[in-house]
Amino acid sequence: MATNLFTPFQMGKFDLSHRVVLAPMTRCRAINEIPLPAHAEYYAQRSTKGGFLITEGTLISDTAAGFPGTPGIYTDEQVEAWKNVVDAVHSKGGIIFCQLWHVGRASNHGAPISSTNQSISDKWRIIMPDRTLDVPHKPRALQTHEVWQVIEQYRRAAENAIRAGFDGVEIHGAHGYLIDQFLKDSINDRIDEFGGSIENRCRFLMEIVKAVAREVGADRMGVRISPAIDHMDATDSDPLNLGQVVIDRLNKFQNKIGSKLAYLHVTQPRFTAHGMKGYGKEKEDEEAQLMRTWRRAYQGTFMSSGGFTRELGMKALADGDVDLISYGRLFISNPDLVCRFMVDAPLNGYNRETFYTQDPIVGYLDYPFLN
Ligand SMILES: Cc1cc2nc3c(=O)[nH]c(=O)nc-3n(C[C@H](O)[C@H](O)[C@H](O)COP(=O)(O)O)c2cc1C
Repeated sequence: MATNLFTPFQMGKFDLSHRVVLAPMTRCRAINEIPLPAHAEYYAQRSTKGGFLITEGTLISDTAAGFPGTPGIYTDEQVEAWKNVVDAVHSKGGIIFCQLWHVGRASNHGAPISSTNQSISDKWRIIMPDRTLDVPHKPRALQTHEVWQVIEQYRRAAENAIRAGFDGVEIHGAHGYLIDQFLKDSINDRIDEFGGSIENRCRFLMEIVKAVAREVGADRMGVRISPAIDHMDATDSDPLNLGQVVIDRLNKFQNKIGSKLAYLHVTQPRFTAHGMKGYGKEKEDEEAQLMRTWRRAYQGTFMSSGGFTRELGMKALADGDVDLISYGRLFISNPDLVCRFMVDAPLNGYNRETFYTQDPIVGYLDYPFLN
């Protein structure tokens, strides 16, 4: 029988009972960067036995935040609070990784840091701590020695995540945030070893991968990238090649240490483009081709995200285009998405208005389950 959403999968050391993964999603419900009992409930609602979940982007330091109400993983108090979330997921038989996040120049703090001094253009807006919108602030390019300090912050955050009981961590290298600001050639204008050639642009990510793998083990970490996504002005002149070079580096790293990462997670551009004017079959085919090329190149577990329905997920798995699929918006509005997919039940629609609001119930815990 063809592989489908309910075919079990061995993700390195983890036995997954199905392929429907909870995508990392910022929900802005933390208070003072501390996850609440509502977080435990939210993730528990979406847990299944042998199901895999990735947390919302979680801050690695006090300069990392770009949204209000995001939780951190850099203080002992944060670590303690996450234990409740992890326990709630584990008690349902779920497996959960913490997504490690630094937004770089998309920060809503006073003095954002980045690979560059160049601001994000004012066509973008960021949500300020008081939940009003503002234009992005002017960043400051990190000095070389400071880049190494941030790499160390990722390592420490990974160590903390394991202390909190997480099964592993995902390095958020996507969507125009700090790591992507080093990867993309339209942003990275550095002249030190972290800029210039494509190898140098990949160095920040690869040094983080090395440091985190040394700390927690490669098999307890995933990496997320989005070479073809231009969110927050993160464009590259050759996304196909950028993806290839990152994958080539990851393959070499895995061969060298004789162990694989848990997975590579790539977001498809159709996440932003779906339904937009001028977005047609040709563009979709082009994107599918990019993803297939990277999927074939990567020597390990390949997860994809962005615009998947039940039907598209089934097709991608049957065609061998992915090993795992992470679902975002549909998982917000359907806490029992796995069950609904299994019996092919109708889905609850989602309400964008409550994606990033603060209410710990409305739009967060109150989407109905099948009876
Ligand atoms: C409300 C919301 C918050 C998100 N936050 C994050 C995040 O913190 N980290 C991340 O890597 N992606 C984030 N994403 C992207 C999702 O992980 C996912 O890739 C995207 O929603 C596309 O999948 P979908 O079409 O199934 O929703 C977010 C998406 C949404 C809708």
